[in-house]
Amino acid sequence: MSLPILLKNQKVLLIGGGNVALQKAKVLSENEIEFRIVSKEVLPEVKEFCENIEIKEFEEDDVKENIVIDATGSDEVAKKLLALKKTKNFLLNVVDKPEFCDFYFMALINRGDLKIGVSSNGASPSVAKFIRDEIKKILPDNIENVLKEKKELRNKGIIDKDLTKLKSKLYLIGAGPGDAELLTIKALKTIKNCDVILYDHLISDEILEIVECDKVYVGKEKGKHSKKQEEINEIILDYASKGLKVGRLKSGDPFIFGRGYEELKAITEAGFNVEVIPGISSATAVSSINLPLTARGISSSFSVHSAHLRGNRINLEWVDELKKENHTVVVLMGLSRARHIAKKALEVVDENYPVAIISNITRKNQKIIKTTIKNLKEEAKNADKPAILVFGEVVNLV
Ligand SMILES: C[S@@+](CC[C@H](N)C(=O)[O-])C[C@H]1O[C@@H](n2cnc3c(N)ncnc32)[C@H](O)[C@@H]1O
Repeated sequence: MSLPILLKNQKVLLIGGGNVALQKAKVLSENEIEFRIVSKEVLPEVKEFCENIEIKEFEEDDVKENIVIDATGSDEVAKKLLALKKTKNFLLNVVDKPEFCDFYFMALINRGDLKIGVSSNGASPSVAKFIRDEIKKILPDNIENVLKEKKELRNKGIIDKDLTKLKSKLYLIGAGPGDAELLTIKALKTIKNCDVILYDHLISDEILEIVECDKVYVGKEKGKHSKKQEEINEIILDYASKGLKVGRLKSGDPFIFGRGYEELKAITEAGFNVEVIPGISSATAVSSINLPLTARGISSSFSVHSAHLRGNRINLEWVDELKKENHTVVVLMGLSRARHIAKKALEVVDENYPVAIISNITRKNQKIIKTTIKNLKEEAKNADKPAILVFGEVVNLV
């Protein structure tokens, strides 16, 4: 029979300085336990975890602590300790000798104030570790912060039993450029597992058809402006506060010109759990039309830019990159600015410099227009939104 308890402020004597002692020293040090080591030899790594080391043969008089760990593997030391227990009061652990132990080590999880110990009662530390690692996988990422909040409230005499922040989770899901088959397996599994999905106008119908739970549109309202980011954050928080698993579907990759980081920050700061699931960006989806962003001897690098800056300002800073040899430039949100882009580009490159306008990439209504800087302005009028612009010699490979 054994009783799992947490012992506070204990002092420990660790005997031994080899690999087994090293493991124990690590555990003790990670748990901020005060301990000292007695051993005739000590591995240099052990010194990283313990400052109080006496290099000497173990003797009975060394036992001054209430807890003693024998990591020597020596029968002689174990016998001495067992004999000593008749006259001295201390709890003994002889590593790998459960029959000599007063207590066992547990496989531990330490997340701030959360302490989880898994024990096999000395039967199999490997099994205990396996179970510990399985438990780790299901722990919410925000557990430390939630416990911190609860502790602060408790210290003020408030008992807060609300577990919503542990139950709910936000997933920022990269939905890719539109073709549902380009969703990652993780994105698909997550979509199926959510209680509600928030999406905007760039999410394709094909992907929306996969969604089985409630769908909430957070994009442009008819005849009105797009929802402000703050409004979207509030909607997300509203659903998260109901203890739901909330999927925020974002086109392409959430962190490529998708304002994903702003959502991540707002939700994390509010104390909720967030997981980001990367998606295929429209910028790199050009592979699907056999357009390589890099190709040996033709393009050895590429850059991705937005032609649109905060406050509806145009960004043309990147145009100088067109001068770079063996380089491909991908521009998002550039179609409606094609006129300005073409004008500025003509200042730095030849009018025959290749450009592709690719609309609705990977979708049924995909359209590819191969053109040149000279004709970009006119051709842009024939293109549909959403579109990316690709500049560089690689365009001629399609
Ligand atoms: C707000 S940004 C979002 C980009 C997205 N996070 C990504 O990684 O693709 C929107 C711009 O992405 C590009 N875009 C998104 N989906 C597209 C698609 N299927 N075909 C072409 N361009 C697309 C367009 O330039 C559009 O204006």
